[in-house]
Amino acid sequence: MGEIKTLIDEEKLSKRISEIAGQIEKEYAGKEITFICILKGSVFFTVDLAKKINGDVKLEFIRVSSYNDGTESSGEIKMKLDLKDSIKDKDVIVVEDIIDTGKTLSYLIEYLKMKKPNTIRLCTLLDKPDRRVEKVKVDYIGFQIPDKFVVGYGLDFDEKYRNLPYIGYIE
Ligand code: IMP
Ligand code: MG
Repeated sequence: MGEIKTLIDEEKLSKRISEIAGQIEKEYAGKEITFICILKGSVFFTVDLAKKINGDVKLEFIRVSSYNDGTESSGEIKMKLDLKDSIKDKDVIVVEDIIDTGKTLSYLIEYLKMKKPNTIRLCTLLDKPDRRVEKVKVDYIGFQIPDKFVVGYGLDFDEKYRNLPYIGYIE
């Protein structure tokens, strides 16, 4: 394992997250929003984004896994922790850390639509478009990044580095 280089520092993250929060706040003015945080990677992003929104934001959590370990997608998606409360008629924003192949999100969005939310949008902190195989409509994107394996701010390599306060990549 090589050293970790900074790709997006704390200040840039915070600034961009404030911008997205402002946009969501405007577009959902007067409405209650339900965030669906995809565990574990998007915890840091979800929390910071929610704190910057002046309005009602409810939090729900779901956990799926498409990665066994390491850096390669297994292509197989497993539901590890399902929603506990109903999202029927809710205005839902799915909050993800990163979209890579798109397999996880395209599966998850279809699954969540069956639960009949009023609206459903997708917000991702990072978008890695180079390796996309499944088309997904993303409504809010923090940063588009090159095809590097990134860690930190929730993202892990074998469960490590999630607590780094910045986004880094492994050389
Ligand atoms: P996808 O199904 O290929 O879009 O993969 C999405 C999931 O893979 C993300 O939610 C992450 O958990 C994981 N992932 C994809 N790229 C990276 C990365 O560069 N670093 C850490 N995790 C990643
Ligand atoms: Mg994830």
